[in-house]
Amino acid sequence: MNTIGSELRLTLFGASHGPCVGAVLDGVPPGLTVDLARLQGEVDLRRPRAGIGTPRAEEDRVEVLSGLLDGRSTGAPIALLVVNRNIDPQKYERFRTVPRPGHADLTARSKYSECADLRGGGQFSGRMTVGIVAAGAIAKMLLEERGVRIAAYVRQVGRVLDPEDRDVTAALLSRSNDVRAATPELAEAMRAEIAAAREEGDSVGGVVQCIADGLPMGLGEPFFDTVEGELAKMMFAVPGVKGIEFGAGFAAAGMRGSQHNDPFVLVDGKVRTAKNDAGGILGGITNGMPVVLRVAIKPTASIARGQRSLDLETGEQTDLRIEGRHDPCIAPRAVPVVEAAAALVLADLSVRGGMLD
Ligand SMILES: Cc1cc2nc3c(=O)[nH]c(=O)nc-3n(C[C@H](O)[C@H](O)[C@H](O)COP(=O)(O)O)c2cc1C
Repeated sequence: MNTIGSELRLTLFGASHGPCVGAVLDGVPPGLTVDLARLQGEVDLRRPRAGIGTPRAEEDRVEVLSGLLDGRSTGAPIALLVVNRNIDPQKYERFRTVPRPGHADLTARSKYSECADLRGGGQFSGRMTVGIVAAGAIAKMLLEERGVRIAAYVRQVGRVLDPEDRDVTAALLSRSNDVRAATPELAEAMRAEIAAAREEGDSVGGVVQCIADGLPMGLGEPFFDTVEGELAKMMFAVPGVKGIEFGAGFAAAGMRGSQHNDPFVLVDGKVRTAKNDAGGILGGITNGMPVVLRVAIKPTASIARGQRSLDLETGEQTDLRIEGRHDPCIAPRAVPVVEAAAALVLADLSVRGGMLD
């Protein structure tokens, strides 16, 4: 399905090299002040930066077609449209018969047969995430009215790992550099890692860490619509995401209970924990600590160096060389997407839990 959410529902539409991409966000309560300059600013953070992103230059100007009146939500669905201006569909025709290893060409073709729109990845393209970021900006505004802040940063690119667990304030500092690292030194090292991959006609993966603070205790709908479950479903919709962990995550498997359990403490009269290996979630419900998640993002599938593929018409092995414009590392551009995706889920769970009435 192209729709996600229960009370706050997001529908994505469009295709990478079609006329437009966009989103419809339904369920926004009436009366929310929507700062359109701020919304555009969030979308601009997703645009590629010189040297480390795709050379495809899109203005990504967001038009609001419905759901707002005099700068406030009316309660009707909010339709957000971005016209594609820099399209070049011809380069992608070959992938119909010779699918790109690591991309969705083959699976899209098997599911939608000859009707599949494979131009630039069609509906599987990272470009679809423009709608997530635009709608997520509105979800962020909803949450901020209740004191919830969300920020993400690049925790790892290839072999370069940021050793620190950052809070929201530190993560927001990543907005000052193109690779979205928490410090200028890490940014430099990560930029070099991306440049090295690109110079070899290759790509590199990364990890994006996201933190949401100010959440009340009690969000989440067990058994199945847990905070982890809902966030995981949304994050796996982001193209290129191959893994997710919360708090200590997979490292918990190598820990003792005495080490992993977060002791309860009283802070300003509120029950909190002394550390946060649970990632702010116990029993699928927020515990009042920051929700902390990390997503693993694979190295970009479309690489310049030759790769082995199959010609589906002849059945012969083929050497595939990919032209076109691609990100050598997806992680920096995924940062605003992950933030927005988290905001949409947490706002939906907040409406469901009666916390945004
Ligand atoms: C912001 C963003 C930009 C992306 N840019 C590219 C790209 O330039 N080239 C590419 O091959 N994949 C890119 N991807 C990832 C592909 O869309 C994705 O790998 C593909 O659709 C297959 O899906 P999967 O990796 O989730 O299995 C991008 C993803 C995101 C989120």
